[in-house]
Amino acid sequence: MLNKILPVAVSAVALAALSACGSGSAAAPGSSGAAAGGDAIVMGFAQVGAESGWRTANTKNVQESAKTAGIELKFSDAQQKQENQIKAIRSYIQQKVDVIAFSPVVETGWDTVLLEAKRANIPVILTDRAVDSEDKTLYKTFLGSDFVLEGKKAGEWLVENSKGESAVNVVELQGTTGAAPAIDRKEGFAEAIKAAPQIKVIASQTGDFTRSGGKQVMEAFLKSNPDIDVVYAHNDDMGLGAIEAIEAAGKVPGKDIKIITVDAVHDGMQALADGKISYIVECSPLLGDQLMDLAKKVVAGESVPERVVTEETTFTQEQAKTALPQRKY
Ligand code: AHR
Repeated sequence: MLNKILPVAVSAVALAALSACGSGSAAAPGSSGAAAGGDAIVMGFAQVGAESGWRTANTKNVQESAKTAGIELKFSDAQQKQENQIKAIRSYIQQKVDVIAFSPVVETGWDTVLLEAKRANIPVILTDRAVDSEDKTLYKTFLGSDFVLEGKKAGEWLVENSKGESAVNVVELQGTTGAAPAIDRKEGFAEAIKAAPQIKVIASQTGDFTRSGGKQVMEAFLKSNPDIDVVYAHNDDMGLGAIEAIEAAGKVPGKDIKIITVDAVHDGMQALADGKISYIVECSPLLGDQLMDLAKKVVAGESVPERVVTEETTFTQEQAKTALPQRKY
């Protein structure tokens, strides 16, 4: 893909820009960031925010991996607002960083700013979340999970564990409206539960990927729906918020109402091991090392795959008990 979208002439310009903007940024000890003249690569990283345990783990991992790779990281937190992320990307373009990486808050509305980066010959890497753009030349690669597959795995577990039930009422706590993981996890789950017509999603609303959002929406769901059997939360944090709401309503999570979540961060895994959550589909935040490798390659003008999918697993309550002591986040 890179060969198609980054002609040799453009590569040369990008390398020239690298020499210019890399100066003044001291390479870290053991740095391999020597793509041009021995200076460290400068990466502008526009993070979504700090909405969840997953995000906190992802930020820490990216910062540590940059240090290890000898890449100078300029970091910004968009507080879940697209306009903040666009501002951050524009500022990285002005600062002439060598490469921009970002995890888009929502899928749409990126073409203008990505075109500005392209015109400035600054390669862009999408990490964690995708953009919905017709023009695939606006970024070099997309590193992250297959969110549709994650939703499917959640739905398949429910189908498997609902055999013999005549009716299963599900409420869904969606992630941030318009975000790739919210759209795709909804789609994958809906696809999987088609195999079991007794499973019905009776209510679905966004909890914005936060614990407080999950709690608030679950409180409302509990008030208006007396017969909830299952919560499908697009991330652990919203599932943990739902646990608080269920307990406050005098019900027992894991028994009266089963909970399925996505992520497998430490608090989620603990709730799974404790029997409060029934199943977790893993979404790994440990993308830092792969991101730094890809950054070095795109800055050097080497070709990279257009899509790098993160390898992930799933956890039952028993598997969580075994896995917890070794979890890194
Ligand atoms: O984009 C990844 C998702 O964003 C994680 O599942 C969620 O916890 C986070 O906020």
